[in-house]
Amino acid sequence: MTARHGHRGEKMENAEKKRVFSGVQPSGNLTIGNYLGAIKNFKSFEEQYKTFYCVVDLHAITVRQVPAELRRRTYETLALYMASGLDETKNTLFVQSHVHEHAELGWILDCYTMFGELSRMTQFKDKSAKHAENINAGLFTYPALMAADILLYGTDIVPVGIDQKQHLELARDVAMRFNQIYSDTFTVPEGYISESTMKIMSLAEPTAKMSKSDTNQNAVVYILDSKDDIMRKFKRAVTDSGSEVRYSEDKPGVSNLMTIYRAFTGKELADIEREFDGVGYGEFKLAVGEACADGLAPVRERYNQLIADKAHLEAVMKAGAEEASYYARRMMSKVRRKIGFVG
Ligand code: TYM
Repeated sequence: MTARHGHRGEKMENAEKKRVFSGVQPSGNLTIGNYLGAIKNFKSFEEQYKTFYCVVDLHAITVRQVPAELRRRTYETLALYMASGLDETKNTLFVQSHVHEHAELGWILDCYTMFGELSRMTQFKDKSAKHAENINAGLFTYPALMAADILLYGTDIVPVGIDQKQHLELARDVAMRFNQIYSDTFTVPEGYISESTMKIMSLAEPTAKMSKSDTNQNAVVYILDSKDDIMRKFKRAVTDSGSEVRYSEDKPGVSNLMTIYRAFTGKELADIEREFDGVGYGEFKLAVGEACADGLAPVRERYNQLIADKAHLEAVMKAGAEEASYYARRMMSKVRRKIGFVG
């Protein structure tokens, strides 16, 4: 069982702290895109901010999920948050469906989000092309629920990859619209998009985003892949014509590998170019694979310990939901009052 500081003891201190919220869908095995673009950055906020990191299962069901897999991945995603260094006593780690206010505010914000705005969302267009047999209303209104996630906590900062920028801008617009109608209610959030890792590309098709729902297993490196799998995938990674290790727009494959290498080693691009000057792509790809496997090894090790203790994970998600509910309930009573709901 976890020892947590209850919200009551922390209230004064937290009232002064700025808030951070982010979420990851438990809709597939998490990739190094999720890790480098989002999760790895979460920890940097835990001391100075009041942080909420959520496993967004309500979002995941906009695409059909196998129930047993959704359940398993919800635990896995929480364990990966913790394995990535998030301390459950410093961060509020929870599951979206455990805090009913997300769904409640999601509905309300549906009524302040325009059909035209939702129609312009590129993720909706992409996902409806991919799941033509299941273009459900939830898939369409997904960004309003995401706005609810963020606005419920008075969030100042939302660390995400660049693919979420459009959703974030919608959340800002909805917040401003609501505030304008009813007076100041929501904090208008800012994105935190780390430029160096905001879009990790597919290893097979380096002009496309690396995605956990990709069916080509060679295109995607999962956080929990074995070293052998990681090495094999990087060996097969698509590179570009020529043989120079150089970061440039006309070399999307090599540039993506350099981005990954930089993220795991902390080296500068110019130094990486020098390091592999005159060395072929083959050797470079092995070095990237090694750096990635080495960087992920401690995460995998901690993950294996965490996932073996389901009772502990359940205690963490329960305490996290209680803490989050405290903030969510306060915001909802404000929202209800402003709208004119009775009670
Ligand atoms: P999701 O689950 O698709 O991805 C989780 C996080 O990983 C980032 N990401 C990437 N970053 C860099 N390169 C990539 N290839 C890559 N792939 C994914 C995403 O940008 C994201 O930060 N709608 C969100 C989940 C969500 C959310 C929220 C996020 C729901 N409510 C509120 C922030 C705040 C999503 O589908 O993320």
